[in-house]
Amino acid sequence: MTNNNQNTLEKLKEEARSALAECESLASLEEWRINYLGRRGAISTVMGSLGGLDQDSRRTLGKASNDLKILLQDEYDDKVQEVSVSQNAENQVTGIDVTLPGRNPPQGSFHPTTLIVREIAAAFAPMGFRVVEGPEVELDTYNFQKLNIPADHPARDMWNSLWVDYPNDPDLRPFLLRTHTSPMQIRVMEQETPPIRVIVPGKAFRYEATDATHEWQFTQIEGLAIDKGIGFADLKGTLDAFAKSIFGETRKTRFRCDFFPFVEPGAEMSIDCFKCDGEGCRVCSHTGWIEILGAGMVHPEVLRGVGYDPNIYSGFAFGMGAERIAMLRQGIDDIRHFYANDLRFLKQFSQQ
Ligand code: PHE
Repeated sequence: MTNNNQNTLEKLKEEARSALAECESLASLEEWRINYLGRRGAISTVMGSLGGLDQDSRRTLGKASNDLKILLQDEYDDKVQEVSVSQNAENQVTGIDVTLPGRNPPQGSFHPTTLIVREIAAAFAPMGFRVVEGPEVELDTYNFQKLNIPADHPARDMWNSLWVDYPNDPDLRPFLLRTHTSPMQIRVMEQETPPIRVIVPGKAFRYEATDATHEWQFTQIEGLAIDKGIGFADLKGTLDAFAKSIFGETRKTRFRCDFFPFVEPGAEMSIDCFKCDGEGCRVCSHTGWIEILGAGMVHPEVLRGVGYDPNIYSGFAFGMGAERIAMLRQGIDDIRHFYANDLRFLKQFSQQ
């Protein structure tokens, strides 16, 4: 009887120990504790059965089961310690620390081109110019012909272009990625009657080798004003006010002759160098002046082409590169930064 009971205890010890060794989590350990050491667990059951034995056996077996209980309790405590330590270590590896403050998700910001386009539009807004946009894939007619650049005109060489083919539909007139935003002059004039005052920001594309000042895709800002009695003084006054608003009240502007087939007379506008105040430095290539845009009085041929009588209506147009203005404003030395998608560059403008 006693031997039997001792065998039972031995078995129980082996079984409890191997079950304990299997426990990998605090939850399974708790389950184990209830099964073996709990009030209705295996050890308690053995102890409860001692009542029917003689005194000697009761004493021996009582002591043996008590020893076993203490032993298992010790081993259980060690195992709890071991499992908690390894769980903590695991949590550290996976980076879960619930006491850490939350992390802010990264915030997007406006692209420097968007920022300068908005700033330029805001400079023209008080003078009554509103913003319109047009198609980036354009008809040859709008990109060239209606701007007084017929098929054989040598000025087309300036705009070596990216053509879009429609091989399956030879009847479609030639399309190209617009080489400038000037076709929108025509589209606006065809749709509206003067007075007209618009700013047209948008992408332009040229078949071009890229370098620090040239990109094959860039952003232009076109301007057009048409009304009765508009003269060259209006062109100068408007663009002078724009230059002062973007580059500072003390800026001087200079207009010199330039050629664009859709204006007559044509001009380029420069500002005196904001870096050296006209003394001559690296920014202005030691000339004291920085060219910022092309402009001119809308050519009578262009006006006639959209059905306006050049004896009644006149106006001026201008076009500038948005990135170029941003480069000058921010001291950016390479236009290729704009579209390299390098966040280290783009982030610098987020606060503006
Ligand atoms: N479209 C011209 C260019 O791309 C710029 C321009 C616009 C010049 C309007 C005069 C008037 O170079």
